[in-house]
Amino acid sequence: MKKILLSLTILSVIAACGSNESEKKAETEQPSASPSAPAEASSNELSSNPVYQKGLELTGKFMCPSCHKIDDRLTGPAYREVADKYAGADDATIAKLAKKIIEGGAGVWGEVPMTPHPNVSEEEAKDMVKYILLLKK
Ligand code: HEC
Repeated sequence: MKKILLSLTILSVIAACGSNESEKKAETEQPSASPSAPAEASSNELSSNPVYQKGLELTGKFMCPSCHKIDDRLTGPAYREVADKYAGADDATIAKLAKKIIEGGAGVWGEVPMTPHPNVSEEEAKDMVKYILLLKK
């Protein structure tokens, strides 16, 4: 009898450990979609879009927000303005905007130039453009 009790105890301890473990795992496996997305994101659909997530991460990494906000003008135009201007942009336009981010330039939105970003790859620049274009109203 004692033996049975003992093994029952051991079993339940093992079971408890097991379930604890899988609970923990489930927690850590939660998608990293914990909203690092800004409140401006108009819908959940947008913030779970991989293009959006990638672009958001890249623009943060390259400190674009020091001159650009989503809704308001800073030194540069608001992303929404850019998105509206280039709505339905084809690949050539996306490539042109990506090049502008890398090389910098002025004259489209005013006389103030965008500084060049030589450390941004063409791929990264395109990813950021696609993200900005998603922010259309
Ligand atoms: C020093 C301030 C500054 C920084 C940093 C900056 N921008 Fe700009 N950006 C501007 C200005 C100013 C303009 C408007 C240029 C013009 O009128 O042609 C602009 C324009 C743009 C445009 C529209 C270009 C066009 O021809 O219509 C895009 C897209 C853009 N920026 C994306 C970015 C991204 C992505 C980053 C980060 C890698 C970034 N910007 C960083 C100031 C900045």
